[in-house]
Amino acid sequence: MAKVQIMETVLRDGHQSLLATRMRYRQMEPMLASLDKIGYKALEAWGGATFDSCLRFLDEDPWERLDKLKANLKNTPIQMLLRGQNLLGYNHYSNDVVEKFVQHAAAHGIGVFRIFDALNDVRNLRVAIKAALECPEKPEVQGCLVYTISPVHTNEMFVDLAKELQEMGCHSVCIKDMSGLLAPYVADDLVRKLKAALDIPVELHTHCTSGFGHATYLKAIEAGVDIVDCALSPFSSDTSQPCTETIVAMLKGTERDTELDRQAMTPIAKHFLGVKQELIKEFGLKGYFDINVNVLDFQIPGGMLSNLANQLKEAGMEDKYQDLLDEMPRVRADAGYPPLVTPSSQIVGTMATFNVMAGERYKMVPNEFKDMVRGKFGRTPVPVDRDFILNTLKIPEDQIIEDCSIEDAKGQTFAQFKDEVIGKGFLNPTDEDVLSYALFPQVAEEFFKKHYRQVTAYKR
Ligand code: CO
Repeated sequence: MAKVQIMETVLRDGHQSLLATRMRYRQMEPMLASLDKIGYKALEAWGGATFDSCLRFLDEDPWERLDKLKANLKNTPIQMLLRGQNLLGYNHYSNDVVEKFVQHAAAHGIGVFRIFDALNDVRNLRVAIKAALECPEKPEVQGCLVYTISPVHTNEMFVDLAKELQEMGCHSVCIKDMSGLLAPYVADDLVRKLKAALDIPVELHTHCTSGFGHATYLKAIEAGVDIVDCALSPFSSDTSQPCTETIVAMLKGTERDTELDRQAMTPIAKHFLGVKQELIKEFGLKGYFDINVNVLDFQIPGGMLSNLANQLKEAGMEDKYQDLLDEMPRVRADAGYPPLVTPSSQIVGTMATFNVMAGERYKMVPNEFKDMVRGKFGRTPVPVDRDFILNTLKIPEDQIIEDCSIEDAKGQTFAQFKDEVIGKGFLNPTDEDVLSYALFPQVAEEFFKKHYRQVTAYKR
């Protein structure tokens, strides 16, 4: 078997999982040349919550961050995480917005598009995958199996989905295990089945939330997985990925040796340990999380768990934390067992929060939860009980949606978003500005107000 490749997450998922996505570009920059020399398969650095966090908290233009990353990473492809028809926002966008976003991301330097849909409904992946495959920069297009455990999910179902992704033209597939639910021996079985069924590389992405992480990687590696996602030590473990240096050391001298130089990582890790301490201090974040094997029941992904803990603390409701964790699986079952990942994790999490705070279930129901159960975001793994939709949530029958792609086609077009930006007084927006606005209207508007001169001068 060939060497294992490592995809490094310190610039994205590492700080998203442990430090609420607060790492700034200037804290990354000093190490980019060194990271670029390591020989990683790719560096994940964009997408997920980074885009929102740049605009909302860090006063950075995410497109400019990408340009600077690209200028400093000559050898290693930059990877982004993209939520299919959701892009990086919380709604479904019309097809032309999805296409424009993918084209511009590729033009600014994205070399690997990792594309997923929270419900594993491939109808939500088609437009983004096709757009990425057609980019002149020829990025790698990776399709995801959003991993979850439930009474209805099996490894065979994930293999069928992977075959469909291969048929759609994906260059690789990723098992995306955002909450660390994939147990080592299940990983062994799943990876063997995927390797037998597919001709394209298989990558594994997990989190250490439940404590399985490193053991799961070892079994997956023995089973033939091609690539594993790891984070350098200061941004690894806990609710983040397994540790890069540990995996490199673990495989040293074996037939699956990564052939990466662990010593070369030491100064980089040292730098990021300093960054971690700075961020903990500046934003008053926790930064460290205990292993919690109960994640197997409540299934909240790493990034959201750190946010949730902070939100409850701020609201002075720390004592409700356990009630909330208990309510999550009940709400998830009612909603047809969606995998819990952005945005379904937020939707289920918010619904569970409302239930706990109101002291009565489904007394107040956010629109997003209604949208999910009525099929607006795609097919849930199990059809939601009709009685629950019609009588408990009081959703009229004619609002139930069978084909979400028809709904997407009716959405706001790129030209309409552009008119809206111009209507707000930003007269000469770039396509990138319009896309930022389409994804995060209020946050982008505030950002434009501060940087209007700079934004209009910014041309591509
Ligand atoms: Co992740």
